[in-house]
Amino acid sequence: MVKSSLIRAAVQAKNRAHAPYSDFRVGALLLTKNGKAYSGCNIESSSYGLTICAERVALFKAISEGEEGFQQIYIATDHEQFCPPCGACRQVLWELAGDIEVIMINRERKHRSRQLSELLPDAFDGQFLEGK
Ligand code: THU
Repeated sequence: MVKSSLIRAAVQAKNRAHAPYSDFRVGALLLTKNGKAYSGCNIESSSYGLTICAERVALFKAISEGEEGFQQIYIATDHEQFCPPCGACRQVLWELAGDIEVIMINRERKHRSRQLSELLPDAFDGQFLEGK
């Protein structure tokens, strides 16, 4: 179930983005199975490759606090379209959060939901490293 309070929280997280180079602001809100929410925003560096996406900020905050089970991630941008997570974030979310619901929020605060497995079919993960 998509919650409007979590949509609002993802939009608030977007407003904390540090994006002076791209001017593309992203907010994320990751919800645990226990109902706890972790926010994230994109944080850019003048050494562009060091930039980190909003989704991974939220995920790493949660993992670093000992969280394990996740159910949803809300992703807010100011774009007219529903902006999906980048490939790197899809991979890391898959490995650390599993097949969660991904809720994309556009600038009109409308949303679209997808399962992560739809966005990252035939994913590579740790199981391929077992018994090699
Ligand atoms: N960005 C995110 O925060 N999440 C994504 O999934 C896509 C891209 C950020 C990174 C960079 O600060 C800006 O958006 C433009 O790429």
